[in-house]
Amino acid sequence: MNILVTGSSGQVGFELVRSLSVFGEVLAPTRNELDLTNASVVQKYLEHHQPQLIANAAAYTAVDKAESEPELADRLNHLLPKQLADYCLNNRVALIHFSSDYVYPGNGEHAYTENAKVAPLSEYGRSKWAGDRAIMGSSCNHLILRTSWVYSARGNNFMKTMLRLAKQREQLSIVNDQIGTPTPARLLAQVAALATRPLLAHELTGVYHVATQGETNWHQFANAIFEQAQAAGHSLAIKKVDAMSTADYPTAAKRPLNSRLNVEKIEQALNITLPSWQQALQHTLAEYLTSHLMEKKPQP
Ligand SMILES: NC(=O)c1ccc[n+]([C@@H]2O[C@H](COP(=O)([O-])OP(=O)(O)OC[C@H]3O[C@@H](n4cnc5c(N)ncnc54)[C@H](OP(=O)(O)O)[C@@H]3O)[C@@H](O)[C@H]2O)c1
Repeated sequence: MNILVTGSSGQVGFELVRSLSVFGEVLAPTRNELDLTNASVVQKYLEHHQPQLIANAAAYTAVDKAESEPELADRLNHLLPKQLADYCLNNRVALIHFSSDYVYPGNGEHAYTENAKVAPLSEYGRSKWAGDRAIMGSSCNHLILRTSWVYSARGNNFMKTMLRLAKQREQLSIVNDQIGTPTPARLLAQVAALATRPLLAHELTGVYHVATQGETNWHQFANAIFEQAQAAGHSLAIKKVDAMSTADYPTAAKRPLNSRLNVEKIEQALNITLPSWQQALQHTLAEYLTSHLMEKKPQP
């Protein structure tokens, strides 16, 4: 089986290439090999390679920049998934797609279920919701894994930024009123792999939340990153981490204050228990610190 993974240089895409390789040959074109902004290039690629499963991890993820580039965000987050869904429907193959907590309005203190009312606050959120709607409307065999606060040992993410800053600075101010759950890209790719057989067998379809258990805020998450890194023997300059509110840290895109996702539906469907955000951090941080130390070893 030919499996197309888009966005394979990204956090989730990189992990999917590994986790889906057990099901067949994975095609993982880079941006230079497949320009996803160009619909006719994408069409030709699909016709030529005829993938029998598509995992779409490509996305326009620059949340603030999307406010000034809504058309590009729409192409990648809405029109591309729509095009992939049309291909999947016409060729009777399955589509795995990733969605975001940013489709929800971020109000209240409850964990959103998959059928909660969506009301995105930003261009990024609107483009992601348009993509979800297009896939659901196409009635192709699909799985939409909706997640939050993705991080990984690779790529650009909060954990790596915090570790870099904590080496350089003694004091940082971090937002403490956005509540959610950080989710490792590897966990998402593992869940996607577990869901693949039931998806291909038409036993699993629709939208599912995938995130870690519990809840935290960015300030608390940063402190946990620093504590765990220091406990692992990593030396950091950081001495003081101040808490600040979202209102004191203006950004181009509005962020949801509540990003809690209820994950019971996927746990029941796959008979799994998702880890706590602390356990997941321990694994991801250990992976990052190990690879980082290895990268830094002097060449013989
Ligand atoms: N990051 C989060 O916190 C978060 C939270 C919730 C949901 N999600 C969703 O999870 C999924 C995966 O996110 P991620 O964090 O893995 O994203 P990421 O690390 O930013 O990766 C995005 C991928 O898309 C590719 N891409 C972007 N524009 C492209 C273009 N014009 N042509 C070809 N490739 C292009 C990138 O390629 P280059 O490397 O060449 O740029 C990269 O491989 C996305 O659907 C995202 O919306 C993410």
